[in-house]
Amino acid sequence: PQTAPAPPAVPAETAGAPTVAGLLKEISDVGRDRTRGGYSRPVFSTAETDLRIWFIERATRRGLDVHTDANGIIWAWWDTAAGVRKDAVATGSHLDSVPGGGEYDGPLGVASALVAVDLLKARNFRPRRPLAIAVFPEEEGSRFGIACLGSRLLTGELDPNKARNLRDPDGNTYADVAAANGQDPRFIGADYKALQQLGLFVELHVEQGRGLIDLDQPVAVGSSILGHGRWKLAISGEGNHAGTTLMQDRRDPMIAAAKVVVGIRETARKYRDARATVGRLQPVPGGTNVIASRVDLWIDVRHPEDSVTAALVEAIGLNAQVLAAEEGCSAALTRESLSPTVQFDDGLRDRLQQLLPAAPVLATGAGHDAGVLAAHLPTAMLFVRNPTGISHSPDELVEDRDAEAGALALADSLAGLLGG
Ligand code: GLV
Ligand code: MN
Ligand code: MN
Ligand code: MN
Repeated sequence: PQTAPAPPAVPAETAGAPTVAGLLKEISDVGRDRTRGGYSRPVFSTAETDLRIWFIERATRRGLDVHTDANGIIWAWWDTAAGVRKDAVATGSHLDSVPGGGEYDGPLGVASALVAVDLLKARNFRPRRPLAIAVFPEEEGSRFGIACLGSRLLTGELDPNKARNLRDPDGNTYADVAAANGQDPRFIGADYKALQQLGLFVELHVEQGRGLIDLDQPVAVGSSILGHGRWKLAISGEGNHAGTTLMQDRRDPMIAAAKVVVGIRETARKYRDARATVGRLQPVPGGTNVIASRVDLWIDVRHPEDSVTAALVEAIGLNAQVLAAEEGCSAALTRESLSPTVQFDDGLRDRLQQLLPAAPVLATGAGHDAGVLAAHLPTAMLFVRNPTGISHSPDELVEDRDAEAGALALADSLAGLLGG
């Protein structure tokens, strides 16, 4: 069992009018990964918890009413004079990261939401609808395997019992980790009361490709999210001694895994627009002088058509069985999550295009909580230019002036949607 981390010293807020760059600088030392480079901020780690505490302090200082719900989602409310939480305009993103991730994936949307509130307050804006900033836990699924865990629990798309029993790489269950972070795991799951308070959701996010570079624009309106899913392939063989086992006597799952990885690329290339990735592979037990008894690998598959994803995964699974058998091994494929392709709400996208006439419309291949929420309420996204075009890497980047342009676009969007 873990002990709750000590609260961090929240750094002094940047002097002068807060900027997105200034807010991100305040947290730029939190969760730096000295080994991989970039940031490792797994959900409910000390680093992510420090960011949550930072967000709660910054939101509270802005006069927002902050609470963390049973699913670990932080909500920061700007209420109207009437004080009724209904038909709210919600924005926000996440603070967790992939291992060795960039500085902006998630935190850019959170910091931009805070600055958008500042900009609206500086305009003496009085919203006619309430505004909520949401910070979702485990968007990346880096710790417990299921991306958008918080929004899937909120919307009832994930069985709370399944969630409670998910394990992180150290074997801790989600239930235990949530409890150590002050959340009673008995109460996780669908929260229709919270959902019913929301009228729409707009997530601002760093662009994770080259669309805005090519269009020479700082901000885009999102159109769709590519369907994606995750599968685990366990290849079992026979663990043995690296020095005493002759090559012909081996049933080595690592050899099968190597063939499978190459095979996945070959299979995926047969399907236009398909993307298939093995970014994580774990030999068990994992020793230099040990022939592994099992290799677990995780496959991320994406395609605009869900039927193609299904066909591709089936082909990958059948091929893995053949390749494993060639090495005297066996292969078992299990699905961990699946998210269909999402088209964002037409009306909301049109409205954002009216409010941001210069912004082009872009699709994305990356997953987001906005994609999960889209099945339950009108949802939209704004993307901010990333001059490297690289993401899920320390090389992800946003120029300061683009970050401020993004916050301004978010403020203008929220102002239009809130109706002052
Ligand atoms: C999350 O960022 C994903 O698209 O995998
Ligand atoms: Mn993200
Ligand atoms: Mn990400
Ligand atoms: Mn994501």
